[in-house]
Amino acid sequence: MQSQLLTAPKLLEVPQALPEKIYTTERVGISRKTHDEHLKLWIGYTNKTNEIRKALAEIDLDPAKANQIYSQMRALKINYAFAYGGYVNHLVYFHSIGGEGGPATGDIATLIKESFGTFEHWAADWKATGIAGRGWAFLAYDHLDQRVHTYMGDSQDTYPAWNNTLLLGLDVYEHAYYLDFQTARAKYIDAYMQVIDWGAANARLAKALGR
Ligand SMILES: [Fe+2]
Repeated sequence: MQSQLLTAPKLLEVPQALPEKIYTTERVGISRKTHDEHLKLWIGYTNKTNEIRKALAEIDLDPAKANQIYSQMRALKINYAFAYGGYVNHLVYFHSIGGEGGPATGDIATLIKESFGTFEHWAADWKATGIAGRGWAFLAYDHLDQRVHTYMGDSQDTYPAWNNTLLLGLDVYEHAYYLDFQTARAKYIDAYMQVIDWGAANARLAKALGR
C-alpha cells in the first residue's frame, strides 16, 4: 500500500534554549532551575511530534489495518494531538512570560474589557481557571465572535476550541511550579501574573489578524 504522504513531512525545529528574558521571573520566585528542567519537557514534545509526523508519512494506509479499538493509525492520531499540543502550549508559555506583568496592554486590554468588563474580573477568572484545570489555562482570540475567551486544559490536547488563536498559556502542571512553590498553586499563579509579557501576547494577536 502506498504511503500516506508523497512529500517528506515538515519537521519542527527542536528548541535548544529558552528566551533569555524568561529568567527575569526569578524576581517573583519562578526559578531558573524550574525553567531549565521545563525546557527538557518541551524538547520531548518537539521530538515526539517529529517522530509521529515521520511515522504518519510512512504508515500503511490499508483500511483493513485501521481499527477504532486499537491500530497504529489510531495511536498515532491520538498521540499526535498530545505531542503537538504540548509543543504549542509550551511555545506560547515560554514566550509569554518574562515581562512586566500587571494590567493588559494594547488590543488585548480592549478585548478583555469587551469580554470581561474589567481587567480585574478577567484576572479572577484566569486564576480560577488555572486552579480548576489539571494542566493549563488558555487565553485565546476567537476569530468567529472576535472576542477573547479563557479555556481550561486537563492535558496537552484538551480542551481547546477550533478557530482560536492562543495568546497566553498558563502551565499549571506541577512541574511548572512545585520546585518553587510546592503545592501552593495559587501563589504560583499570582507570581505568573506579575511576569506576563503583554507585548509578546499582543504581537501574537497582531500576527494572527494580519496587522
Ligand atoms: Fe509544562
